[in-house]
Amino acid sequence: MENHSLITQGIHYVGVQDRRTQLFEGLWSLPDGVSYNSYLIVDEKIALVDSVEAGFFGQSLKRIKRVIGDRPIDYLIINHMEPDHSSSIALLKKYYPDMILVGNTRTFGMLEGFYGVEGEQVVVKMGDKLCLGSHTLEFYITPMLHWPETMMTYDTASKSLFSGDAFGCFTALSGGFVDSQMEIEPYLQNAVRYYSNIVAKYGPQVQRALKVLAKLDIEYLCTLHGPVWHEQIPFMIDLYNKISLCEAEEGVVIIYGSMYGNTEEMAEEIARELSCNGVKNIKMHNVSTASPSHMLADVYRYNGLIIGSPTYNAELYPGVEAMISRLKGRGLKNRYFGYFGSFSWAGTAVKHLCEDFAEKLKIKVVGDPIEMKQSMTENDRVEVARLAKEMADAIKVPLCD
Ligand code: FEO
Repeated sequence: MENHSLITQGIHYVGVQDRRTQLFEGLWSLPDGVSYNSYLIVDEKIALVDSVEAGFFGQSLKRIKRVIGDRPIDYLIINHMEPDHSSSIALLKKYYPDMILVGNTRTFGMLEGFYGVEGEQVVVKMGDKLCLGSHTLEFYITPMLHWPETMMTYDTASKSLFSGDAFGCFTALSGGFVDSQMEIEPYLQNAVRYYSNIVAKYGPQVQRALKVLAKLDIEYLCTLHGPVWHEQIPFMIDLYNKISLCEAEEGVVIIYGSMYGNTEEMAEEIARELSCNGVKNIKMHNVSTASPSHMLADVYRYNGLIIGSPTYNAELYPGVEAMISRLKGRGLKNRYFGYFGSFSWAGTAVKHLCEDFAEKLKIKVVGDPIEMKQSMTENDRVEVARLAKEMADAIKVPLCD
């Protein structure tokens, strides 16, 4: 057996790196790729914990064979059925036809529905155990993190928690598997982006899972995307606790649409006034060019949010409408919110930002909205300065449940 892929006692990394896909789920940008993690637990019995996206199956199979040679895989533990982890299960069954599939009551209907895969199954419940020899696996059912069948698996021997997508992050791995083997800051930033894109709708479920997991002694937190967390486990647990409660750092995100530059000019003026009032964390996004993935990440990172939109066909500008739809879908809360818009020939953008967003979410409106007609006037500049000052003062006081 080779140690090239060893993480800790009996646990091997057999995942793959995807540097080809540009949009995860067809939605979320991947400028630095993503990993599909998969783990082998080698004991008297061999268990594979989750698998990889089907286009990368050949690479993963080679990794598996480098570790176990011609020994069979006895169990496949299926913590999550989304196809980035499950689409090679049918291929795995061809190579390992006697492999027993381990999931929960919600797993196998999906497996049949997606791939028509059948075969010997073990259906586990909360707290069930599976002995592999010196390693014993315990199963924790954690629904809606972020699909209904999601569960986590804890290995008592190595104190490794296989957490599914939870605690995952974008960015492919470059050589190292464990956080202690790499420069970690870019991954920590991308863990926030991953959470905001993939998991954010399910804050209450994250809170429930954290309570269940609190009793476990975890030395290796093995997610399905990104590094195996070891040194950074306390940071990641704290991050998930805070971010699932929609707690955030002091700062302001300005998201705006603009057709001819007038709404953009107001956004730039607001940013300048925020800076003049001492705000250092100011993130600006033009919806026509910014990636939704990165906009969401900043909204989840900072406690101030200002949105601006021109009126477009008597509605919100489409890119702004798409963004507020994403935020509503995630149930964003605990944010200070300011808004502005341009009138052109029909003044409805500001009205929509109030009725379709501010009044729908548990967020605190700061100041009065600013609505300009065709272009900024001196009076508009006074209103901009007032809104920026009120926002700069507001964000100093954290909002929480
Ligand atoms: Fe990484 Fe929900 O799949």
